[in-house]
Amino acid sequence: MDIQKLTSLAHCAKSRSITSLFYENHNQKDRASKFSLSTAHLYLDYSKQNINEAEFEQLIATAQEANLAEEIKKQFNGDRINNTENRSVLHTVLRAPKAIQHEVLGEALANEVAAAEQQMQKIVSDVQSGALTSATGKRFTDVLALGIGGSYYGVKVSLSSLEHYRDLSLAVHVIANVDGGALEEKLKKLNYETTLVVVISKTFTTQETLLNAKAVKQWMLSCALVEEPKNSNIPSIIEKQWFAVSSNIDAAQDFGINVNNILPMWGWVGGRFSLWSTVGLPLALAIGNDNFSKLKQGAYEMDMHFKSADFNNNMPVIMALLGIWNRNALQYPTLAILPYAHSLRALPGYLQQTDMESNGKSVSKSGDKLSWLTAPVVFGQEGTNGQHAFMQLMHQSDDIIPTDFIVALKGRSQYTENHKVLVANCFAQSEALMQGKTLAQVKTELVDSGCSLNEVERLAPHKTMKGNTPSNTVVIDQLTPESMGALLALYEHKIFVQGVIWQVNSFDQWGVELGKQLGNRVLSVMDGAEDETLSASTQGLIALFKASLKS
Ligand code: F6P
Repeated sequence: MDIQKLTSLAHCAKSRSITSLFYENHNQKDRASKFSLSTAHLYLDYSKQNINEAEFEQLIATAQEANLAEEIKKQFNGDRINNTENRSVLHTVLRAPKAIQHEVLGEALANEVAAAEQQMQKIVSDVQSGALTSATGKRFTDVLALGIGGSYYGVKVSLSSLEHYRDLSLAVHVIANVDGGALEEKLKKLNYETTLVVVISKTFTTQETLLNAKAVKQWMLSCALVEEPKNSNIPSIIEKQWFAVSSNIDAAQDFGINVNNILPMWGWVGGRFSLWSTVGLPLALAIGNDNFSKLKQGAYEMDMHFKSADFNNNMPVIMALLGIWNRNALQYPTLAILPYAHSLRALPGYLQQTDMESNGKSVSKSGDKLSWLTAPVVFGQEGTNGQHAFMQLMHQSDDIIPTDFIVALKGRSQYTENHKVLVANCFAQSEALMQGKTLAQVKTELVDSGCSLNEVERLAPHKTMKGNTPSNTVVIDQLTPESMGALLALYEHKIFVQGVIWQVNSFDQWGVELGKQLGNRVLSVMDGAEDETLSASTQGLIALFKASLKS
């Protein structure tokens, strides 16, 4: 990528106002319609980005130079683009029609996928109909899903976004955190006799998930007054009520899960892109098979758009290129995700993982040190809450924080006035972040409100807003399984495109390994081992912890 070229182009962008772009060459409305598009249940307005048509063309050229079209084909065709793990990246095939699955995966694997899907659908329909019951023959009232990272976020964000589609007789809970407090809080609300447990772990070696699974198993056995078996017999409550999703079937079985209740996962589906696989079981239990299929259908529609649309009319490509413009050309280090929908409150957390775990890297696919920066720091919160918190900094600090606003036109609640206010705030914030308020404007306002000249001089600098903050607004007509599927796929593809242009492997996550290794070493020092290679700081912290056990 020619960062040098992008940086020099951005020179002029840095010193102009975004608002002025609305008057460049054409009238305002032209820009608003030229810099917007709709597809697959979503509408994107990117006219508030700090970019003009010529610069945008340069970005398109950057995508072409990076052979993006070829790379997209490689991904969808199943080439092993995850080169450090020698894996294909084929989550997209899971939401594609059967004919495509057969073409891409081949007969045997496509049949395996179909069988897993059927197994999952049967579990869902049997739980819903009452054909699948607890060990004591009762209908399930709760599902407890245990998983972390990619085995958690996709389910979590979809559960809350699709809460209006939930089967109300079945409450679905998810736990990721290894904090026993989180577990305790959840277990207090659950009836062991009517709770179905799903352990989701691709590797089935993840410390947090396994520890939680062990604790939940002990809780269930002790509530049921059943001894933990010494041999490989599975107590009936575990046999009937426990399910697992994993590519490590042996480990799940060793843990004591009935082999018939283990749903497969595949190496070619990355954790953070795995919602579309059997990982979606808890979600499907919550919203039903039909709605789960609609979620996949929405994602597939976005896939089709991504594969076929020209780059300058391609929503994921456009969002990716604008992200690169903001990150590398304008050199803004962060990205705020502000969903103006309570049901999308988990989206910033989900995107932190998908984006930063995918592209937070600094060497190319071939291992060379990159001379440009990659993924931005992603953060966010549901609107309007952020307005009464960190958005102060977005309006008045010197840092410019590019933002994605996400909003649904139609609300779901009976409080229509609340929804109108919510949407108004979303539109107003993107405007305020772009327009800002100059010192002169503030002074005029203060004078008009009757302030003395002294007061005007004293207060005006405090009330000035920098403006010129670029944003996208992603508009959804209404949050439905289809539109949610399309939204998730939009970001998946955006992240993929950025990875291609930055030349990183977006599909590994070696960065999390050191923490895991050191976590184990710290644990053994807590248990009495010595490890002088740990810093005095960490040893001191461990000593504090050990002392607290005695007090
Ligand atoms: O955070 C690292 C990671 O490997 C993620 O990529 C993955 O989604 C998560 O841990 C959980 O892994 P597993 O599904 O194997 O338990």
